[in-house]
Amino acid sequence: CGIIGYTGSENVKDVLLDALELLEYRGYDSAGIAVKDETSHVTNVYKCAGRVSDLRAICDSKKILSACGIGHTRWATHGGVTDQNAHPHQQGKVTLVHNGIIENYRELIADYDLQEILHSETDSEVAAALLNHYYKGDPKEAIKKTVSKLKGTFALVILFEDQPDVIYSIRNVSPIVATICKEGAMLASDLTALCRFTNEYFVVPEYHILELHKDHVVLTDLNDNVVEPEFLSVDWELNSAGKNGYPFYMEKEIMEQPEAIRNTIKDRIVNGLPDFTSDGVPDSLFTDCDRICVVACGTAMHAGLVAQALVKSIVHVQMDVELASEFMYSDPVIDEKTLVIAVSQSGETIDTLEALKYAKRQGAKCLSVINVKGSSIARESDYVLYTAAGPEIAVASTKAYTTQLSVFYLVVAKMALLRGVYTEEQTKSFIAELERVPEVMQKVLEKRRDIHVIAKKILEAKDLFMIGRGLDYSILLEGSLKLKEVSYIHSEAYASGELKHGPIALITTNTPVVATVTQEKLMSKELSNIKEVKSRGADIVLFIKEALSGDLDTEYQVIKLPDMQDEFMVLPASVALQLLAYYVSSDKGFDVDKPRNLAKVVTVE
Ligand code: G6P
Repeated sequence: CGIIGYTGSENVKDVLLDALELLEYRGYDSAGIAVKDETSHVTNVYKCAGRVSDLRAICDSKKILSACGIGHTRWATHGGVTDQNAHPHQQGKVTLVHNGIIENYRELIADYDLQEILHSETDSEVAAALLNHYYKGDPKEAIKKTVSKLKGTFALVILFEDQPDVIYSIRNVSPIVATICKEGAMLASDLTALCRFTNEYFVVPEYHILELHKDHVVLTDLNDNVVEPEFLSVDWELNSAGKNGYPFYMEKEIMEQPEAIRNTIKDRIVNGLPDFTSDGVPDSLFTDCDRICVVACGTAMHAGLVAQALVKSIVHVQMDVELASEFMYSDPVIDEKTLVIAVSQSGETIDTLEALKYAKRQGAKCLSVINVKGSSIARESDYVLYTAAGPEIAVASTKAYTTQLSVFYLVVAKMALLRGVYTEEQTKSFIAELERVPEVMQKVLEKRRDIHVIAKKILEAKDLFMIGRGLDYSILLEGSLKLKEVSYIHSEAYASGELKHGPIALITTNTPVVATVTQEKLMSKELSNIKEVKSRGADIVLFIKEALSGDLDTEYQVIKLPDMQDEFMVLPASVALQLLAYYVSSDKGFDVDKPRNLAKVVTVE
């Protein structure tokens, strides 16, 4: 879910609603704000099931004069999608928004006899009731007593009826970042909402009480000691979280990839060689391990799969890729000789965070590849390699994925050099090819109209297969996820050779099959597999490296991908697959950036 809080000199309604629009990617089934009336100081709540635009319509019909308030966009966990279950929740003198899950809410309802007074089915309202129970005029005392009773994860942002213009917050696990700038003091569940105002922010430490006043912030620990916030800065441009004229963030973010990759690699290449000195990552990290284990979810996990194929074939080191949500329950073999790499755009995915903590307890060294500075996973890791994708707003990840891949190419080059697999010359030539990626990607972006034409042919498909071998298979898993999440077409990626062991039973006349062929050594086998499905009636869409394409155009619908060395072809090919998914979704008239049931940042297990 998304959280915002603001107290300052601006009209709070606009600040909150604009921020909620930016945070909507964290959940978009309900939205709400609570604002303190400027004269009466009464806290008024406006909320509804639906989008922020629905909430805006409600607020626009009201006269709201206030400069202090809190807001929330919801991704339902406890309690269905209803107006009552939308945040903020109000109990007596307390109004709050909550992220996370309060696991013992049932016990609390029984222990404090709350059932009769609750208006919603949420665990969050229980926290509001508890705070109200303990509130006798001292907000901090009430907060301390309340959190001592809560089990689970929470980020609570609270207004007390008789504390005008002050916002309180406390958290455990679920993140809260805050800042103070000329417009006032604000906090949010993530940086995206703040970076319109300032590049400076701090992460609220767990179990610390934050007070936002119009012109200052106070941070104290639970023993009332004042703690100085540790300010961080982010190099995102102030307006980088806008759509910049594109109809959807997804398209904007696809188009931004050449620049994002350039920004990610440029300071990590010194004299033509990979260099992580400025990241503080020592070479020993890559030489002292005898195996690598990637933990991640969703698209980030797919980036790990590409890395795995590269590391195995180039560096010859054992590498596993684990779904973070399965990892710690599978008794993984992890020790101090294992390098665990957590991959995450947000740095907040709870499954990945928990997997990383588990690996650390087993003595593994932990590196993370993260897009958001100062995020929970980054702070928990021994070392971090940040991607420079900038804010990614569309729920379907694009530029975060390819920048993660570009970091992995640097890691592969570094490992190959350090372990004597590559000479310095070979490493330089590998890195030189990586430096060509932005311009090659640009050429794919210039072919987007051709890809759009192909997309139109699969709009009506119910089921679709994506097939490939080796690295192609790795990126098709991501291409297929992309298509299914934004277009709702059931899509499955299969290793081409595996198709005949079952799924080929589902190929009938006109079933669309998307194939990528970018690896010369696998090409002839791959083309045979394509023929197998073609002869069973499939409609083939082929993305093929230009140098391998020969005269295939006549047989299939072909998109030729600009040439790179085979190891690097996954990058241009990924962009083509992203565009395919994007056009199918936008042509079907869907809200591309907000696919149903999904959220961009998943902070529940
Ligand atoms: C959610 C998003 C995905 C993302 C995954 C992991 O499910 O919808 O797009 O890949 O979380 O997120 P992370 O921030 O850890 O990369």
